[in-house]
Amino acid sequence: MSQLLYIQASPRGTRSSSSDIAEHYIDAFKSASTDNSVTTLNVWQMGLPEFDGDRLNAKYSFLHGQNPTEAEAAAWQQIASIAEHFKSADQYLISTPMWNFSIPYKLKHFIDVITQPGLTFSFSPDTGFQGLVTGKPVTAIYSRGGEYDNEAASGMDFQKPYLEMVLGFIGFKDINSIIVEPTLADPATFSAAMNKASVTAARLGGGT
Ligand SMILES: Cc1cc2nc3c(=O)[nH]c(=O)nc-3n(C[C@H](O)[C@H](O)[C@H](O)COP(=O)(O)O)c2cc1C
Repeated sequence: MSQLLYIQASPRGTRSSSSDIAEHYIDAFKSASTDNSVTTLNVWQMGLPEFDGDRLNAKYSFLHGQNPTEAEAAAWQQIASIAEHFKSADQYLISTPMWNFSIPYKLKHFIDVITQPGLTFSFSPDTGFQGLVTGKPVTAIYSRGGEYDNEAASGMDFQKPYLEMVLGFIGFKDINSIIVEPTLADPATFSAAMNKASVTAARLGGGT
């Protein structure tokens, strides 16, 4: 039995290429065992809290090794519960489009909410930063209108390198990726890219 947390970052509903590929992963994951379950969080529908005021001050209190004020501690609860819920899964699936060479701002917002001292990473002068989300696999699906698998464009890809870096920062080591590109190409090229990605997604979702 395994619980998959699916973080969906496209707001395009059934038109989304990244979400479409994620469905292939999820179908295979569910078929692998009737005990497997999936929780979906679409970052556009979560009503994520602003990360400012007392919530932000609480983070700095923790980073400085100080106790938060009563107001900061109360505001921090909302952040902690989102991060704790994130941590409670056994494995993870993230699907995200490329937006302006990186990830959509709502996924960045989610990352800014859950990437917290004492929750998803720790720091001490002796050991430095350590990720706290350990021993769990994550698969990330990246859709892009253009093609970045070439020398001229690879340096413009701040989507996959950023997401992989921040996942590594909070502790993930087992990180799989599926790339869908170029989605804004002619129909035949688009269809070939989707077919290739869906085969990989089904394989990874089925645990092979
Ligand atoms: C706001 C916005 C910015 C985009 N920026 C890029 C970009 O920098 N590079 C690129 O190749 N495609 C870009 N695209 C195209 C999307 O990455 C592409 O359509 C992708 O397949 C969308 O995934 P989805 O269908 O899952 O939402 C952008 C699309 C939008 C809406």
